[in-house]
Amino acid sequence: MITPDTIQRVRDAARIEEVVGDFVRLRRRGANLIGLCPFHNEKSPSFSVSPAKGIFKCFGCGKAGDSLGFLMEVDQMTYPEAVRKLAERYSIDIEERQQSPEEQEQAQTKETLFQINEAIANWFQTQLWESEEGQIAALSYFRERGFTDDTIRAFRLGYAPKSWNSLGDYAKEKGYKEEYLQTLGLISKSDRKTDVFRERVMFPILGTSGRVLGFGGRYLIKKENSPKYINSPESEIYLKREVLYGLFQGKQRIIKEDECYLVEGYTDVISLFQAGIQNVVSSSGTSLTSEQIRLIRRFTKKVTLLYDGDAAGINASFRGIDMLLEEGMEVRVVLFPDGDDPDSFARKTDTEALKTFLKNQAQNFLAFKAHILMAEANNDPLKKAEVLRQMADSLALIRDNFSRITLIQDCSQRMEVPEEMLVSEINRRIRKRVSERNQAEHSQSAEPKESAEAGDNPELSLPEPAQSHKEIQRETAQLDLIRLTVLYGDRLLHFSENEQDFTINALTYVLDELDKDNIQLPNPLAQAFIETLDSLDQEERWSEIQAVLIGHEKSEIQHKVLDFLQSPYHLSQYWEERHNILTEREDTLLKKTLAHSILSVKMNVLLDRSDALRENLKDLQIKQREAESNVQEELQLKSIETLAELSKIQKLIQRFATELSRVIIR
Ligand code: GTP
Ligand code: MN
Repeated sequence: MITPDTIQRVRDAARIEEVVGDFVRLRRRGANLIGLCPFHNEKSPSFSVSPAKGIFKCFGCGKAGDSLGFLMEVDQMTYPEAVRKLAERYSIDIEERQQSPEEQEQAQTKETLFQINEAIANWFQTQLWESEEGQIAALSYFRERGFTDDTIRAFRLGYAPKSWNSLGDYAKEKGYKEEYLQTLGLISKSDRKTDVFRERVMFPILGTSGRVLGFGGRYLIKKENSPKYINSPESEIYLKREVLYGLFQGKQRIIKEDECYLVEGYTDVISLFQAGIQNVVSSSGTSLTSEQIRLIRRFTKKVTLLYDGDAAGINASFRGIDMLLEEGMEVRVVLFPDGDDPDSFARKTDTEALKTFLKNQAQNFLAFKAHILMAEANNDPLKKAEVLRQMADSLALIRDNFSRITLIQDCSQRMEVPEEMLVSEINRRIRKRVSERNQAEHSQSAEPKESAEAGDNPELSLPEPAQSHKEIQRETAQLDLIRLTVLYGDRLLHFSENEQDFTINALTYVLDELDKDNIQLPNPLAQAFIETLDSLDQEERWSEIQAVLIGHEKSEIQHKVLDFLQSPYHLSQYWEERHNILTEREDTLLKKTLAHSILSVKMNVLLDRSDALRENLKDLQIKQREAESNVQEELQLKSIETLAELSKIQKLIQRFATELSRVIIR
């Protein structure tokens, strides 16, 4: 076995651009390198490598990974083979070791612990269904709570009898080691080694794949000095931070509904499940951990918290929620009417009404938080300012700009502060985050100059105020192109050329098109956008790239981006208004719209060039008439050159004009 240390050293040493460079010809594109994807056929490069992050990604076929992943894919290597190959290349000594006897024993122990828990869960179930004590005390209790037999079986509910050692006796008979039973919290660590769970209804806690990790046991009769619930202790097989009650039963539905309800208790999960809301889990009494969030994230990004209206509990959860937002989750809240929790409410409401209630009551968590905090601030200006800062902290964590903007509007209304105030607070945070991250990348990467260039853009100046109609039209065309690129840069476009299919994202398409004809946008703001976009790391999620633009140090860029994002703007609407043509599928439409936009911009640039050349030509002819004969020949030569250039541009203009009309009509 190769040691984890060695693998880490190999990872740290490997330069992705070198590893990939052995197989793919790469060229610079901003902070990244691009080339033709080795994993699928393409003519135009959509394969991108990020040296700063040490990863590759193909926007065409979607393959992505690090240096090791690349080798495994391109050379069909196993993981250890890839590690060995890179270790050799970067002269790293491989440390290997056998699994020690202890490690083997540890693996064995875990397996045994699982087996014991499984047997005990079955035993608790047998006590519930088959013993007289279980039927009288526990089964009737569950039924009284409204749980059907199917539900009781689905959650493998059970009963731990009143006796001091019936579990211990059973375990002894099966030959389980006392030490293991103590580790699992089934018998006490005191001398008497009595059963821990006695006279309790049992809720086994299942892992994602259904194995029994531990138990929660609820008392049937409230007693002094006895907690309502006893839960199994942490153990090698029960890491509480990583477990969600109900996930095993609910995961299929969570995926299907693309939403996960989060409640507080075991019984809330079970009641909702039985009422037909099966996409529900609980963190069982503890506050939500980041591990649990990542667990949910594997199934959905949408979490709805169900609260039973008690303000203390709600306030305590605020801290956890920022974690959810940071992980890119969409968080909503449903507040239950006074005196009801999900369990009691589900019991007295039929499935349809319950679903409607959950749908109608769900509100965005941050809007809800703003509301609660403002009520608490009670018009105290200092407290209100603090709330504004807190809300900006949370809002800045939202990655998706469209939802952020709706939220800003919603929150500013609920907080009674102007939107601009929130926006500027939020921008400050985003800018800070981006610059911190850039710094972190600087100190990590060997060649930090890429991103330094991106930050060194020359000062921008807006165009002079007095503009002719033609100038305005040209500026609009350029900013239209920028708008499309900022809004849709990550959309994939499919092309077919000479019987070759290839796919690139919209940003790459725009950059390539401008590059191809060597076009610099005359509008400084538009050109600054293009340069910034070119320098950004395309590995980022597009919303993150948009956030970087919003946090750009040039306020003109910031404002323009907010403009783009804030105006509800539909491709189809735009296209229909401009060309009076009904629209088709969005990707075809985006391709056309982009092609049209690029062609218009190119056209304008070329028309400007041809105007300038014409002026030149006129000058030359005047000069030629007045010049001495010795320079006449030279001037004539220049005229001919200019004329040739002009006719070349004329032809291009002609070609673009034909293409332009084709794009519109087709
Ligand atoms: P019912 O009262 O039967 O509806 O139970 P419940 O599951 O709704 O319990 P409750 O709302 O009181 O508590 C919510 C969750 O907190 C429970 O499901 C347990 O996970 C946890 N919890 C409650 N009481 C205790 C306790 O005394 N000890 C521990 N360790 N956890 C508890
Ligand atoms: Mn309850």
